[in-house]
Amino acid sequence: MKDFSRKLIGWYETHRRDLPWRQTTNPYHIWLSEVILQQTRVDQGLSYYLKFLKLFPTVHDLAGSSEDQVLKAWQGLGYYSRARNLHHTAQLVVEHGQGLFPMNYDGLIKLKGIGPYTAAAIASFAYNEKKPVIDGNVVRVLSRIYGIEHAIDSKEGKNAISQLAEEMIDPRNPASYNQAIMEFGALHCTPRLPQCDSCPFHSSCFAFAKKRVSDFPFKKKKTRVKNLWITYFHIDEPRYVWIRKRGLDGIWKGLYDFPGIESESEPDLGLQLTEFLKSQALKKRDCVISSSEPYLHILTHRRIHARFIHIKTKSKMSNPLSDWIRIAKTNLSQYGVPRLVEKYLAGDSR
Ligand code: ADE
Repeated sequence: MKDFSRKLIGWYETHRRDLPWRQTTNPYHIWLSEVILQQTRVDQGLSYYLKFLKLFPTVHDLAGSSEDQVLKAWQGLGYYSRARNLHHTAQLVVEHGQGLFPMNYDGLIKLKGIGPYTAAAIASFAYNEKKPVIDGNVVRVLSRIYGIEHAIDSKEGKNAISQLAEEMIDPRNPASYNQAIMEFGALHCTPRLPQCDSCPFHSSCFAFAKKRVSDFPFKKKKTRVKNLWITYFHIDEPRYVWIRKRGLDGIWKGLYDFPGIESESEPDLGLQLTEFLKSQALKKRDCVISSSEPYLHILTHRRIHARFIHIKTKSKMSNPLSDWIRIAKTNLSQYGVPRLVEKYLAGDSR
């Protein structure tokens, strides 16, 4: 065995966390855990994993549920296209494989919705196939120890990493090797405060020897972050509230939120409110109106600044747009909503 994988697996055996998806070779369970863990950290991912298995114990249950149910279960994790893909892939597995996942990497990667990372994770953890996983943790560990100077978002950098990963994986124990390298990146060789002093690669790590640990992994492009302002109108009738289903594209497609206005520069709230009231033939004196604090939601490419204008009224809206839906207040909690709407609703909005 290569010295690298021997040391790595040795470290893993002492430091590994006991996690339920490490006790199984069921490809459905492994797939669920990996999709969730691409989106969140282990501590939060664990409760979602258990929730999904309880709601959808088999791939048949997941495939047979509605998209709304899956999005509701995913609520809070963000990046909702992952949840829609999850649902869609489950349907493919049921339709084309009678509920059985393909038995190797080449079969898995052909499934729409399963990419190289997930296919390698399922193939190695469920079938012990020799396929290295490459995620952010793996890239960081390999690029530091082996001093990969190419930008990891360039073609050269990607090739260098995948070559190294192929070379390093332990052919006799690919499942443990893959768990070990991800665990090492998550717990020891962390982005900001790696524990170099107690590292098993202390004497061989390129980045540590050169005192350049924080230079790796080297990235070419900076992510450009765009600001987006959303003004929500929380129209609060005695027993009803208005919501809308988010449309065809965008980050929250399929989720529900309130009627609102989106803009790329900071809006004039007073003006927006006046226009809104006018459009619904509402008089200010017939409503109790308050505005929330701004809610900031930071995503990879966006900073979303949301404000909720709470309009308590006895009148029914006279001119609702076609995508608005009037629902009983008591049913609101059944709808999947973006995290910032969830936070607002949990706060002092009522
Ligand atoms: N992150 C992604 N996959 C993981 C796994 N199998 N265990 C722990 N963290 C992970």
